[in-house]
Amino acid sequence: MSVIIAPSLLSANFLHLERDIEMLNRSEADWIHLDIMDGVFVPNISFGFPVINRLKEITNKPLDTHLMIVQPEKFINEIAATGSTYMNVHLETCPHLHRVVQQIRQKGMKPAVTLNPHTPVNLLEDILCDVDMVLIMSVNPGFGGQKFIEHSVQKVARLKEMILRKNASALIEVDGGVNFETAKKLIDAGADALVAGNFVFSSENPIETIRQLKQL
Ligand code: DX5
Ligand code: ZN
Repeated sequence: MSVIIAPSLLSANFLHLERDIEMLNRSEADWIHLDIMDGVFVPNISFGFPVINRLKEITNKPLDTHLMIVQPEKFINEIAATGSTYMNVHLETCPHLHRVVQQIRQKGMKPAVTLNPHTPVNLLEDILCDVDMVLIMSVNPGFGGQKFIEHSVQKVARLKEMILRKNASALIEVDGGVNFETAKKLIDAGADALVAGNFVFSSENPIETIRQLKQL
């Protein structure tokens, strides 16, 4: 099966958001990745509900929503109302992660847990079987277009081992600095899904770039 590609809307042209989403609709992109930032957990602010709530009117692609905010549990109802398929919360923002994961599932979404670059995968030992996906950050969250942290490849490999050992079904997604070279290494290490922002949207032909990522 080919790798799942989730272009990040953070790198789209916000003056032409409809045009960029229609481009993704015509492409082989599997999901659309939405980066929500609060200026507290990460040093940046992106976009919020007034924008996201209109997206489902113009796309049928599943929405993969990545919350880089403190207390993400406060917004589970609002994220569910956006029609998001996945709700990604950072392990670093959730002292009661197990409860948050159950609440996300109760609202009909697929729970995913996200790890910052410094957070070890072994902290997932007692939550892995409860989540549908683990999102490994391969840059420090907050901005698109950053350099890939090479160590992330080993984290993916270690997480893949843990998933096989526990017979868990969680997908492995990786976010940050994805290009043809890093994508190949991540797929070889066991990644199932890749987020790609800058690499897709700054390329001359984003539809072709997405197609080629899926062929790696
Ligand atoms: C970073 C975001 C990413 C970002 C990836 O905080 O979580 O989703 O948009 O961007 P690229 O692919 O440009 O590194
Ligand atoms: Zn993201």
